[in-house]
Amino acid sequence: MKTVLVTGAGGYIGSVLVPKLLDRGYKVKALDRYFFGERHLKEHRNLVLIKDDTRRMKEEYFAGVDAVIDLVAISNDPSGELFEEATYQINHISRVNTAAIAKRLGVERYVLPSSCSIYGFVEPNTIVDEESATNPLTTYARANERAELGVLPLADDQFTVVVMRQATVYGYSPRMRFDLAINGMTLGAYRNGVIPLMRDGSQWRPMVHVQDTTDVMCLLLEADSAVVNRQIFNVGSNRNNYQLGPLAEEILSALPKRVEIAWYGSSDHRSYRVGFDKITRMLNWEARWTAADGAREIYNALENGEISEFDQTITLDWYKELTKWHRIIKNVEMYGAIIDL
Ligand SMILES: NC(=O)c1ccc[n+]([C@@H]2O[C@H](COP(=O)([O-])OP(=O)(O)OC[C@H]3O[C@@H](n4cnc5c(N)ncnc54)[C@H](O)[C@@H]3O)[C@@H](O)[C@H]2O)c1
Repeated sequence: MKTVLVTGAGGYIGSVLVPKLLDRGYKVKALDRYFFGERHLKEHRNLVLIKDDTRRMKEEYFAGVDAVIDLVAISNDPSGELFEEATYQINHISRVNTAAIAKRLGVERYVLPSSCSIYGFVEPNTIVDEESATNPLTTYARANERAELGVLPLADDQFTVVVMRQATVYGYSPRMRFDLAINGMTLGAYRNGVIPLMRDGSQWRPMVHVQDTTDVMCLLLEADSAVVNRQIFNVGSNRNNYQLGPLAEEILSALPKRVEIAWYGSSDHRSYRVGFDKITRMLNWEARWTAADGAREIYNALENGEISEFDQTITLDWYKELTKWHRIIKNVEMYGAIIDL
């Protein structure tokens, strides 16, 4: 039985990936600071939770580990701008350090879940692939690019390194995120009958379901090293390459109630149309989910009460809340306590 160390394991993708790995017979060490709580990972005999910060990674966590999936991150553009230094430290420096420790301690494989956002802006008629120049426009995207550049040279015949450039993810997760495009649009439709749409709707954005991207993570643990070592894969599908306007229309027609579109923001400067042929060609993998499937899934989960919107489901809002309360508590706390001493 193989053991996988998953960082950022309590997050949106991690809390879908970890049970999937356990179902497939892996042992999992789930390392996270658990900013969003530990409750999203259910107890399992083959699951060990490690509560720590990846900026303080310890060698003992790698004992018996065969592979690392390094999900940890401050995980979106606005949070990256607000917590710029921490974003570089966590998303770039800590991940390169984790890969270096893994290699030194004889771990066989390291998977870096990066992002298609490192393509930044691409002219509408151009489709970028893994060979294209990158153009990261935000701290979050730059940190991902630096992480890629830091981990790939560590690869050798004993240490397989593979990078996934994930499209924007959607779909149900126990640690739900409504700050992701399809999830947020579906929430707006459910709650107010309105899909919020960032101007001007012509921007291209590839999408991938959280079940599909976690399937790829599992695939990359088992794939022949000769095929995947040192490789970068865009993870998504050509049919889920959307302009946000038509995407909103598709979601609108997939949902059971009457929904309108409401524009917001100034023109989005991020637009990238991405090619996903390589992953199909080399790994014979294709996404199973469409945006409409994902929107219906989230809508039903909202209707059944399986998920709801609260401050933890908007990543930036939650990080702001945590830092606000940290300041307040530090001011009021005495002798390590608030009211009971
Ligand atoms: N969700 C997407 O659309 C998407 C798209 C492309 C790439 N990615 C990448 O996939 C990865 C996972 O994304 P997600 O959507 O699950 O994000 P998330 O914010 O839900 O999860 C990140 C997890 O990392 C943890 N964390 C943050 N800083 C930490 C630290 N210093 N030490 C330990 N734990 C820490 C958080 O507690 C959280 O549980 C990230 O690297 C993200 O950049 C996500």
